[in-house]
Amino acid sequence: MQIIRRLSDLGPALLPWREAGQTIALVPTMGALHAGHIALIEAAKAEADRVVASIFVNPLQFNDQSDLARYPRREEADATKLEEAGCDLLWLPTVEQFYPDGFATTISVAGVSERWEGEHRPGHFDGVATVVAKLFVSAMPDVAIFGEKDWQQLAVIRRMAVDLGLPLKIIGHPTVRESDGLAMSSRNALLSAEDRQKAVGLSRSLNDLAGAIVEGAAIAPAIDRCLDQLKANGFGPIDYVAYVDGDSLEPIEAYREGGRLIAAAFLGNVRLIDNISVIPATV
Ligand code: PAJ
Repeated sequence: MQIIRRLSDLGPALLPWREAGQTIALVPTMGALHAGHIALIEAAKAEADRVVASIFVNPLQFNDQSDLARYPRREEADATKLEEAGCDLLWLPTVEQFYPDGFATTISVAGVSERWEGEHRPGHFDGVATVVAKLFVSAMPDVAIFGEKDWQQLAVIRRMAVDLGLPLKIIGHPTVRESDGLAMSSRNALLSAEDRQKAVGLSRSLNDLAGAIVEGAAIAPAIDRCLDQLKANGFGPIDYVAYVDGDSLEPIEAYREGGRLIAAAFLGNVRLIDNISVIPATV
């Protein structure tokens, strides 16, 4: 696996593949890689001839500077995992090169980015859209893979790609979970042992809520019961639990195909997010 840091090395690294007519998949990450990220690399290998992973802890998308400061960084272990997974190129852009003095351009995706994460993390999706656009423009991949774990992020990136007419395919990959159901996340490493036990409560509560919605429960009271359950299990503050249209992220009032449950809540000082589809069980 090649490892490059300088932007000027990226083009020459990709050129031989392009000249050979090979397709390229990009998997953007912020590192501290876990099995969820590696599943994206596997999916990328199935989609393209060559796989490029990027690791860049993007300062622009952290609305909370202490969150940025304590974001886990494990470059060496990450490189080993990527190599083992069959990644062809690891690209580690630097902050100085990505955001040189005078950097002044922001990509802002209206509508789909405004509620939920957008409301609780002001500026977050502008930072995500801007860095993802920069990654796309620099690497010009044929496909890019993102996790459904960050459902709203995926919807924002899909919208941006369509609106800017970017000539690439965006692929969403299902959320990879721990054996107890907790969605894998780099932030899980920040949980205390006690909170790690409690963390499974988020996916459990969402699954209970999904079951209630499928059975025809009224949405607002069912969400209130879910909030109570989360609080009783040690979560708080709870930023949101919502039933939304999976594409527009607008709230919906009754069971509908394509509906998604999304949630964000704190355990101690660690903020966890999760989402699941709401579909009738197929027995
Ligand atoms: P990061 O949180 O490192 O996630 C990188 C990619 O891995 C994202 O597409 C995310 O949705 C996916 N991912 C994380 N946990 C996952 C899981 N349990 N199952 C499946 N996929 C999972 O998301 C970001 O970085 C950044 O915002 C980024 C897109 C790189 C822009 O800076």
